[in-house]
Amino acid sequence: MKTKQLIKKLPKAELHLHIEGSFEPELMFKIAKRNKVKIRFKSVAEVKKAYAFDNLQSFLDIYYEGAKVLLVENDFYDLTFAYLKKCHEDNVVHTEIFFDPQTHTDRGVPFKTVITGIKKALKDGKKKWGITSHIILCFLRHLSEEAAFKTLEQARPYKKDIIGVGLDSSEVGHPPSKFQKVFEQARNEGYLTVAHAGEEGPPAYIWEALDLLKIKRIDHGVRSIEDKKLIDRIIKEKMALTVCPLSNIKLRVFNTLKDHNLKKLLNQGVKVTINSDDPAYFGGYMNQNFEETAEALKLTNEEIVTIAVNSFEASFMSEAQKKKRIKQCLALLK
Ligand code: HPA
Ligand code: ZN
Repeated sequence: MKTKQLIKKLPKAELHLHIEGSFEPELMFKIAKRNKVKIRFKSVAEVKKAYAFDNLQSFLDIYYEGAKVLLVENDFYDLTFAYLKKCHEDNVVHTEIFFDPQTHTDRGVPFKTVITGIKKALKDGKKKWGITSHIILCFLRHLSEEAAFKTLEQARPYKKDIIGVGLDSSEVGHPPSKFQKVFEQARNEGYLTVAHAGEEGPPAYIWEALDLLKIKRIDHGVRSIEDKKLIDRIIKEKMALTVCPLSNIKLRVFNTLKDHNLKKLLNQGVKVTINSDDPAYFGGYMNQNFEETAEALKLTNEEIVTIAVNSFEASFMSEAQKKKRIKQCLALLK
């Protein structure tokens, strides 16, 4: 089967997606107008021109700015529903989305408004397209642990809707150890844990995320390759990496896709997955990430199917659901 056709037919799970990062400029303008919020760009083309980044921080500055037009429940509904439509088009059958409550609550938008809009869209996406999902609450690591505790408190009434907590935003200078206590409390309350680590930060941050935050998956984690002992542990523990190839190029983690270490990691036995991270900002949703990576790194059909299988294995779906999806993936190799 041709690569493109295989990618299209493969059922996939997305495990690293910031819902605020799926905010397309067209929808941003529509919502800004509806909410009578001024944005500094005159046109969609002008916005897209501004999406040229030097590093993670230069992206985050514009990402938080874009999120400011989101005010009411319907905005979060439209944002999430638009992303699910892309999932449907790309045969992403399961998604575990991140949201950043502090980006909104710090502007006076209630936690309830955010989570209710997201939840309603996920429910409709399940009804319309059969897409299953989970929600992961991310703490902003450039803020204090005290602020994260406050957010965890605000999440309490919605505990049943939130499967886990994560850690995102500016990595360097904000190590996982800064959030050890709040992650411990989250685990005690029954949340699963994940964390961005080793995107720009050193392997030491990945060790901390594993040892102190007791994470179930490593978000990004591409810098693990610099530490042989760490790689051995990741392989032994079958710890998945939620890799985001187009994001890594846009944020200059690698110069080009050909330089990306995804295939090296995969061939060493690391459970690698492919994800879109912030697709509205980084130039592509799931299949675009698969296609461009497959082409640049000359991934075989077996490797492409393995990556999709990994996405289900590393997901928080039920074991029965995982089994069903993995069978569908493997059938495409016959
Ligand atoms: N890294 C860290 N924080 C983020 C990202 C990312 O890729 N996207 C949105 N917040
Ligand atoms: Zn991310």
